[in-house]
Amino acid sequence: MSLQLSQRGQRFSQSLIRAMTRECKRVDGINLAQGLCDLPVPAPVAAGACRAIEQGHNSYCAAEGLGALRQAIAAHHQRQQGVTVSAEREVLVSAGATGAFYATAQALLDPGDEVILFEPYYGYHAATLELMECPARYVRLDAPHWTLEATALEAAVTPRTRALVLSNPSNPSGKVLSRKELAILADFVEAHDLVLFCDEIYAAFIYDDWPLVSPITLQRLRPRTVTLGGFSKLFSITGWRLGYAIAPPEVTEAASRLNDLVYVCAPTPLQVGAAEGLLQLDPTFFTGIARDHQYKRDLFCDALHKAGLYPHRPQGAYYVMADISQLPGEDDLERCHFLLQQTGLAAVPGRAFYHDEGGRDLARFCFAKRPEVLDEACRRLGRLG
Ligand SMILES: Cc1ncc(COP(=O)(O)O)c(C=O)c1O
Repeated sequence: MSLQLSQRGQRFSQSLIRAMTRECKRVDGINLAQGLCDLPVPAPVAAGACRAIEQGHNSYCAAEGLGALRQAIAAHHQRQQGVTVSAEREVLVSAGATGAFYATAQALLDPGDEVILFEPYYGYHAATLELMECPARYVRLDAPHWTLEATALEAAVTPRTRALVLSNPSNPSGKVLSRKELAILADFVEAHDLVLFCDEIYAAFIYDDWPLVSPITLQRLRPRTVTLGGFSKLFSITGWRLGYAIAPPEVTEAASRLNDLVYVCAPTPLQVGAAEGLLQLDPTFFTGIARDHQYKRDLFCDALHKAGLYPHRPQGAYYVMADISQLPGEDDLERCHFLLQQTGLAAVPGRAFYHDEGGRDLARFCFAKRPEVLDEACRRLGRLG
């Protein structure tokens, strides 16, 4: 006998990223599909969490998170972006940026509310909206510059549109919005009275001194912006499940109640570790992240180029979308499997980031790997050249 699954239970299949990860394990390959950084956890972060466990900070904390971490997040945004945030009223700590998005989206959106999503998109954004029964309205941005145009936004909006979700820097394209594009976006969300969800989990990963302008720093966007951030990428702690939202007080309050229902709270002792990392790590830690990953980006993009897989060099985040149409195969799926067989390198087929037939010439590679792993990946790409 097998139980009848709900419609929701049947609708969500395994993501292509997880499927490629499983295939990669099977052939003992190098996993450039999954978006995790394999660098060590910074010492104050690990030590802070261990000490907190030993000292007995192992119970539930407030649904909105530990005061110390919320203060540290507010101070971090003041230092990095020059923006003043109320730790008590505007910061919610959750189970990753994923949890923060879920809680704030639940607080702001009802089933049937439409949400604009840029394509290529981050799969969890699309899936979370689907789970909430909020239809996505897609705005396609095209390589090589993934330029945002006002006309494309206007074509997507309807009277039912309530929000827009932005990943900046973008996973998967690495696009960072220019000031001009942000101004277009600001005019648009104001004109249509939309909520702006801005996922900035890769804010520290910015290259070539490209200026990252966060919507929350613009006075006119602040009252309608939910900023999502997290520690998974910054401190290489994807398994700790720690992230946050910065939102207007009434949204933070409602989202905290929803966060309580789903997660109760984020892991208490691990929050202590993240707070200590933000407070104790030298500013050079944060600039070092950008410098080290820029080096890796250049190394890996050059190797892709030499192998005939044209890379769309990212301005931020730690992925590169490459044109893999030179590889044998009918489409992105077949080509990614060919790549895995020939080189043992796993990438994500481009279709994972589009709702329709888009992305069939593309694959996404994660270059946030230890130097020796990345060197080996580059060597293996050389087998294709
Ligand atoms: C754009 C984006 N947002 C959120 C997440 C997930 O963050 P977290 O681990 O904090 O839930 C990821 C992870 O890949 C991501 O790429």
